[in-house]
Amino acid sequence: MIKIFDTTLRDGEQSPGCSMNLNEKLQMAKQLERLGVDIIEAGFPAASPGDFESVKAIANLLKKPVITGLARCTKNDIDKDFAAIKDANHKRIHVFIATSDIHLEYKLKKTRAEVLESVKKYVSYAKSLVDDIEFSAEDASRTDLDFLCQVVEVAIEAGATTINLPDTVGYAVPTEYAHMIKTVKDRVVGEQDIVLSVHCHNDLGLAVANSLAAVEAGATQIECTINGIGERAGNAALEEVVMALKTRNDYYGVDTNINTKEIMPASNLLEQITATKVSPTKPIVGKNVFAHESGIHQHGVLQNKSTYEIMDPAMIGIVDQENIVLGKHSGKHALRSKIEDLGFEIEDEELEEVFVKFKNIADNKKNIYDSDIRALMLGQLNQVSGHYQLVDYSSFTSDGKESKTIIKLSNGTETIERVGSGAGPIDAAFDCMKNILEDQFILEDFRINSVTAGQDALGETTLSLKHNDHQYNGRGLSNDIIKSGILAYINAINKQVEA
Ligand code: KIV
Ligand code: ZN
Repeated sequence: MIKIFDTTLRDGEQSPGCSMNLNEKLQMAKQLERLGVDIIEAGFPAASPGDFESVKAIANLLKKPVITGLARCTKNDIDKDFAAIKDANHKRIHVFIATSDIHLEYKLKKTRAEVLESVKKYVSYAKSLVDDIEFSAEDASRTDLDFLCQVVEVAIEAGATTINLPDTVGYAVPTEYAHMIKTVKDRVVGEQDIVLSVHCHNDLGLAVANSLAAVEAGATQIECTINGIGERAGNAALEEVVMALKTRNDYYGVDTNINTKEIMPASNLLEQITATKVSPTKPIVGKNVFAHESGIHQHGVLQNKSTYEIMDPAMIGIVDQENIVLGKHSGKHALRSKIEDLGFEIEDEELEEVFVKFKNIADNKKNIYDSDIRALMLGQLNQVSGHYQLVDYSSFTSDGKESKTIIKLSNGTETIERVGSGAGPIDAAFDCMKNILEDQFILEDFRINSVTAGQDALGETTLSLKHNDHQYNGRGLSNDIIKSGILAYINAINKQVEA
């Protein structure tokens, strides 16, 4: 059995623009539990009070998976990590230190002997708090192999039960990475009851290939993220490693505990939360993956799906078309059951509020789809959650004349109203936001899509704002595209305020 260690909420959240608030992390964590991941890395508790709180909340909420938080080799990091995960049903401390000469010289400014000393000291300290300890040798793939073996030996002696050997900068190639895993296994791990883990970044597009090569070499834990999000080019994508192991079980001969039908819901939820669309050709979850364009392919698939399809879409949780779910005649029972099907829990009181909003939407929109309900539950539909709230707006536009938009925004204590002008209503709305915020936000990316079909389709705006070298993604959903643009802008600003 290969253990799946999901780090969407830690390494994944380090993707530019992919930060999530507490409620979003809790929703995602619940979906990861349904998906059946063995271990959830819920965050880096010492990184910020917000990270600490979210790791703690996830540790208290979930019962099945092991919950872990990341910690550097310092007492403060380990103490914070322990404080955050201590009430989890199954808990793990994940300690790491860099081991490559490049990192030792330029980042840590430590000698190899000092690194060995730190590993011994802090892995032992973590072990005094919790039994399940993972140790990661950061930049393992660029570390001198003899030294790496020494580090691993010290970590195991100090009590580590999982040894993770990351390809931190996505530099390794499969045979080389597999050789590293096999050497550490043969020389150090031997018959001991130690889990060998891999954590691959995708800078050369090899994260999944490296992870799979490592499995062949003896690794039994894969660290990965939904949709492959993560630092720079991202991490190995969970859906890709899992489906490769499943589809090619004849070759690999190993299983995972993943309920693959929950893959698509997990991918959709993350896409919706982070406002980061997966590419249409993204393996497993991209929207073109099961579409057959060429006549020859269509003909083949019509005769027999196995001609051009190696996986059954139903196995990944892809349902035929986006299911029309509800309409204005649907009642509370139908709404509750849909909400629960999508993985959200809802108390009676909240259902009353959501039902009112649902009816408002149904008045303007004939068919209500899964993505509408998900947006409603995430507080994304016709509204945004967070510091700034849209109170009202008006827009004036006519052909050949400058557009004007007036926006009223509340920041919890006061309502601010300004006017903006521009070449069109969206341009004017963003000009207005700048006037309200009196701050430098640079619009880096801006897209409008229709989420569902038909004239009453929801308009979705996704955008990316840059502020002091940080990127904040925003998403707005409404049948009114100008409103969806304003909401997306506010959503991104709120992320900056919460950061
Ligand atoms: O990429 C990496 O090396 C990491 C470690 C901290 C596990 O994310
Ligand atoms: Zn990483």
